[in-house]
Amino acid sequence: MCGIVGYIGHRPAIPVLLDGLKKLEYRGYDSAGVAVLEQGGITTCKAVGKLVALEDKLGADFSQTCMGIGHTRWATHGRPSDLNAHPHMDTEAKFAVVHNGIIENYLELKEWLIEQGHHFISETDTEVLPHLVEYFYQGDLVATVREVLNHLKGSFAILVMSRQNPDILVAARKDSPMVVGLGENEFFVASDIPAILNYTRNTYIIEDGEMVVLTKDGVKVMDFKGQEKEKQLYEVKWDAVAAEKGGYDHFMLKEIHEQPRALRDTLISRLEDDKVVLQEVDLTAEQLQNFRKVFIVACGTAWHAGLVGKTLIERWVRLPVEVDIASEFRYRAPLVDEHTLVVVVSQSGETADTLAALREAKRNGARVVAVTNVVGSSVAREAHDVIYTWAGPEIAVASTKAYTTQLEGMVLLGLYLAQIRGTLAPEKIKEVIAALKRIPAQAQEVIDEAEHIRDFAESFVDVEDTFFIGRSLDWNVAMEGALKLKEISYIHAEAYAAGELKHGTLALITEKTPVIALATQMDVYEKTLSNIIEVRARDARVIGVTFKGNKDLVKSVDHVIYIPETIAELAPILTVIPLQLLSYYVSVARGCDVDKPRNLAKSVTVE
Ligand code: F6R
Repeated sequence: MCGIVGYIGHRPAIPVLLDGLKKLEYRGYDSAGVAVLEQGGITTCKAVGKLVALEDKLGADFSQTCMGIGHTRWATHGRPSDLNAHPHMDTEAKFAVVHNGIIENYLELKEWLIEQGHHFISETDTEVLPHLVEYFYQGDLVATVREVLNHLKGSFAILVMSRQNPDILVAARKDSPMVVGLGENEFFVASDIPAILNYTRNTYIIEDGEMVVLTKDGVKVMDFKGQEKEKQLYEVKWDAVAAEKGGYDHFMLKEIHEQPRALRDTLISRLEDDKVVLQEVDLTAEQLQNFRKVFIVACGTAWHAGLVGKTLIERWVRLPVEVDIASEFRYRAPLVDEHTLVVVVSQSGETADTLAALREAKRNGARVVAVTNVVGSSVAREAHDVIYTWAGPEIAVASTKAYTTQLEGMVLLGLYLAQIRGTLAPEKIKEVIAALKRIPAQAQEVIDEAEHIRDFAESFVDVEDTFFIGRSLDWNVAMEGALKLKEISYIHAEAYAAGELKHGTLALITEKTPVIALATQMDVYEKTLSNIIEVRARDARVIGVTFKGNKDLVKSVDHVIYIPETIAELAPILTVIPLQLLSYYVSVARGCDVDKPRNLAKSVTVE
């Protein structure tokens, strides 16, 4: 995540930048910074912490110059600190850059730049950008940025300013959002519309592969080859509150829609054709061979991701895995020692029970790997190794993009362990990697069907009880689907292993209990189908979820939601999306507070 903002015009830039950054704080808030041109040089001011820390540092007596760039950070590469905060500059402070996204090949570029004599001061991927600009610069900033773009892999929305070209700001976008605001002799550029809404409603939405040159006299948009493009004016009609949610009615819906991007970012730099690269996990083959057991410890949705992790690790790595709820693990004297790998999963990295479980595991000599979304969080700091999910800040209480990226974390970890222990055939590793690369686009396909799920959600408005059933990994996703429905729509929902229903719970099934039946695990498909037929025989309305190619399920259920074809192990990432959408639309239809459901908090930092 992160938010960027730039201004060129007739007002002092700093208040405009700060105002914009305030509106972008939802995109990250661990540090912030601004850069302005002043007396022929670039002055920066950066501060770790929320934006107020930067405001305090700037004080009342700030520069009055009318062009500048700003950034609010959500740490990815490098912990939150003044040095890692943006804007970043080259060695001679001739160029300043802010960046949102991830430069995938930054290590390679950094090594090469160091060989060319460049000196780096931060741990960020972004710092390669001003150094590349410095390296290629021959007087024309626009041509230089174009050249730099040729060398980048990954995702970016960048803003560049130069002390040698005091009249222009240059911006470029690939896979990270960017909008340009058009005022009267003043122009704005930002990660999102709320940042500029106090000044103008006239905008250009910048697309992937576009560059923008902003001067006091106007804006030019061009492709990465320098070919000028005609842009259509987009007049923003939303109010400021709606704009913060990107035009969506709720953060939850926005975050559901962000999943393709989050899933893509989480894979960046981690996949080659035939192997997984987890630079952040520092385990030797010998250490891995010594593990006798794995525990996965987490709470709530993160625990559900851990349940999927168990199946994957047991299947691929052939090590026994226990999945524990953190509040249980910490008090039950689990059998943990130096031959145990403990994986803690936590979006926030601050959940009290998960943190306590982590400490308990360390006390007992275990190696702890964290899968978390927040750089510098307590869990991230205290674990031995960290696999970050790059979901970006999650604001809605109900977790969506954190869960699907945690599932990717489980897949990456499982493959990595299998690779080192040699427990999975190279062809299988390749197959999983190829399928994983398709997941972000397939997630988008599922989201594109949202309208269909909305129509259908209406039929749940008066439901009081519902069941989610499935076998194997489908059962684990059923648990997450049931939790989503419970927490935001207050409908009682039970997740059941489909084969277990007849041992008691089937007694509850009537025509008033709709059943959501997940049927993507084809090795147990026939068995799941028998369970579907059992509930239907008790008059339950059944909604099935299966792969597009399955023409059979429709004969045995009332309604089918299709997801794109993938391998069984990755199906949970796609299957959960219609369940998230269903819960969301049911919650809206029942008039519930979607983003802040009753009795709940986003981060549970107490026991
Ligand atoms: C449910 C949800 C919670 C969290 C749980 C753990 O939608 O978000 O169940 O998953 O409170 O939180 P983290 O992952 O921050 O440790």
